[in-house]
Amino acid sequence: MRFVIGVDVGTTGARALIVDQAGNVRGQGVGPYAFETPRPGWAEQDPDAWWRGTGVAIRAALGAAGASKRDVVAIGLSGQMHSLTLLDQNGGALRAAILWNDQRAAAECEEITRRVGRERLIALTRNPALPGFTAPKLLWTRNHEPHAYARIASVLLPKDYVRYRLTDVHATDVSDASGTGLFDVTARAWSAEVLAALDIPTEWMPRATESPVLGAAVSEVGAAETGLASGTPVAAGGGDQAAQAIGTGVVRPGPLCVTIGTSGVVFATLDAPVVDPGLRTHTFCHAVPGRWHMMGVMLSAGGALRWLRQAFASGVDYGALDAEAEITPPGAEGLVFLPYLTGERTPYPDPNARGAFVGLSLVHGRGHLVRAVMEGVAFGLRDSFEIIRAVGVEITQVRATGGGAASRLWNQILADVLGVEVVVMNITEGAAYGAALLASVGAGLFSTIEAACEAGLCVASRAEPRPNVGARYDALYETYRALYPALRPSFARLAGAPISGT
Ligand code: XUL
Repeated sequence: MRFVIGVDVGTTGARALIVDQAGNVRGQGVGPYAFETPRPGWAEQDPDAWWRGTGVAIRAALGAAGASKRDVVAIGLSGQMHSLTLLDQNGGALRAAILWNDQRAAAECEEITRRVGRERLIALTRNPALPGFTAPKLLWTRNHEPHAYARIASVLLPKDYVRYRLTDVHATDVSDASGTGLFDVTARAWSAEVLAALDIPTEWMPRATESPVLGAAVSEVGAAETGLASGTPVAAGGGDQAAQAIGTGVVRPGPLCVTIGTSGVVFATLDAPVVDPGLRTHTFCHAVPGRWHMMGVMLSAGGALRWLRQAFASGVDYGALDAEAEITPPGAEGLVFLPYLTGERTPYPDPNARGAFVGLSLVHGRGHLVRAVMEGVAFGLRDSFEIIRAVGVEITQVRATGGGAASRLWNQILADVLGVEVVVMNITEGAAYGAALLASVGAGLFSTIEAACEAGLCVASRAEPRPNVGARYDALYETYRALYPALRPSFARLAGAPISGT
């Protein structure tokens, strides 16, 4: 039997998955780690923790599958996107990585827009500069930590730092590179023009290839620290969202992938790098060669329910909370929740946005709060869904994934709010599974990514939209839509920020 391994270097831990040549999951392992918030709105992580977590996860997965390292024909990597990792010329990390959800670099976004020019920036990178992306964090380091900046020899993303420790090779893939804000998304190559305008040396950037390409092999040291065999080929892999989409079979236009993890993502595959005229969604290269994707990212989705549980239902399991929510009617008897607990990206790129319950009354109990949170997240996802539909993308189905997809109630709410069938696939291992499939294509077990998806994936459950409930949600969605503009000045005041454009 031949196996591939998929690794996902996540925000709260690394996961490794052993997948056999028919696409079946044979074993998995996790290596948890923490992240730091040294100041409000900041998020940092020790790159070495990713490496240690990956080693723990791979050893556990090999053990669980009872697989020999000699039967592993390739490894695929995926990971949290955008997070800035800076190395000196000896390969040592110069500081903690600045993560994707860190909000510190707003001023640097303005600097980037000014130096590159807004139109050129959009024409080349297909996106505006956002604090979540890598480039503003790099400029923040130049502006605030010049001593660290002066010693930079290379810039890597999280999964690529793990690749470097595993293989000694500096490389990335086109989907993850797209999230740096330095990549020519149409040409699928680093943008010499953007790098020059920002005074960033091109030689700092890793080689970028298409995702299934086997461009490195496990070194002796990498093998000793992970339990793998030296010489095992490593595929370029993909950013976690592109890998997640592959892991649900979202590899051609039609079905969307909707992820309710800590964050919430609506992901559509495109045949061309189409941009939302309002620049509210991101347009990146897909991990499928020759395809692109558009996605809307909410910063708190499953994270909002996790917060509610921690604050008001500590120790109560999610199934019990679902049951409480299920016996309250759609609309939670007049209660609406805004999920912007950690600021927002799509459709409002506003670090000051915050969560809110609107319409609370004496009738409301905990089940209402749970239902309102689920509905508020579904409305937030609908914002991205509507933007994607408005650029002309045909939407045939939603494939739900992430922790939230384990809730039958949440999937039904999604189907009713979006007005489209919501399915859950038989394999819900997400990005790690997608990374494994990329490795299996690189290793020649399948000739295309589509064929790899068809081998292992099928629909396991469906939620169909109910028109009568959908009509009630349409009305409530209008109320939801009106709340952010009404509350925006209050959010800015609460954050002590100057109020503009109101
Ligand atoms: C995508 C994004 C997040 C991270 C989380 O743009 O910022 O989904 O990739 O892992």
